[in-house]
Amino acid sequence: MNAGIISTGHDYPEGILTNADLEKIVETSDDWITTRTGIKQRRKASEDEYTSQFAVRAAQRALESAGISPEEIEIIVCATTTPDQILPSTGCLIQKEIGAVNAAGMDVFAACSGFLYGITMVESMIRTGQIRYALVVGAEVLTKYVDYTDRSTCVIFGDGAGAAVLGPVEGDKGILATKIMSDGRYEEQLYAPGGGTKLGTTHDTIDNGEHFFKMKGNELFKVAVRSMAGISKEMLAKTGYTVDDVKMVIPHQANQRITDAVASRLKVPEEKVYSNIAEHGNTSSASIPIALDECIQEGKIVEGDLVLMTAFGGGVTWGGTLIRF
Ligand code: UT7
Repeated sequence: MNAGIISTGHDYPEGILTNADLEKIVETSDDWITTRTGIKQRRKASEDEYTSQFAVRAAQRALESAGISPEEIEIIVCATTTPDQILPSTGCLIQKEIGAVNAAGMDVFAACSGFLYGITMVESMIRTGQIRYALVVGAEVLTKYVDYTDRSTCVIFGDGAGAAVLGPVEGDKGILATKIMSDGRYEEQLYAPGGGTKLGTTHDTIDNGEHFFKMKGNELFKVAVRSMAGISKEMLAKTGYTVDDVKMVIPHQANQRITDAVASRLKVPEEKVYSNIAEHGNTSSASIPIALDECIQEGKIVEGDLVLMTAFGGGVTWGGTLIRF
């Protein structure tokens, strides 16, 4: 029996940060942001909101939609680079809040690829019968790690969470191929050096903004396109499908130009490639599950459809998953 995604859910803050708002904060323009990224607005958590709150609501919606009780979940994998705190894991905090008393809770730190890392981890556990139901959540409050004096990062990132319940599925449904990869040699293309055991948390690290995300966006751009297109082709080749068989491609929402370049390399028509970057910006590990839930809610993905998901993020990390719903 294959492992499949049984249901999805998502949530995000009410607060909206528009390009016009950013024009008042840094030297930028709506025109530059729209042309170079496709982003028009992003969701932004308030001071007193934090990652697990969005994760919990997304998870509860996914569970409700599956008709599965929290007690039936045996593992919760939370993909996040912006946890509530360093200990305990956000997975454990989600477990407490939703009452998943029979689950192990843990976090995966794989930046924007985290959701596909989580999917890949639980897939084999379900397929081999080790567990029955898993919850994979991608949740981020990136705006608290963004330096609002750095125009190259602050215009991109947004907050939100998406969740999926996975379990055994029958017939030719479920995850047909999934793969995750990383290359740590690119560590300094997207990183946040402060707050860990190397630099610690000191007055100096805070004064120097070492806890904020730093990104060499231009260099990452090429690696992102190459990695997502490459692993997508690999997932299709492995299963013997072509892009014509795929109903919808859901790429990580990093930049509309990256999405367009991946689509062009895969030779997929625009209408088959989902994009919500204009409304959400880049929500890192939350971007694929939010997009997936939107597609399902809007009827763009229905039972029987073949869906290709591909992600890329800091690390660098990347992944691809081909699934039949
Ligand atoms: O989530 C997964 C990991 N992240 C990514 O994959 C991100 C990938 N990279 C990107 O999305 C793009 O590289 C960015 C959107 C970050 C930047 O776009 P770009 O077209 O690569 O711009 P650039 O970094 O080459 O900068 C071009 C110019 C520079 O000015 P000069 O040096 O040519 O005078 C920047 O200083 O644009 C300037 N610039 C801005 N101007 C107005 C950079 N950010 C801004 C801004 N507003 N917000």
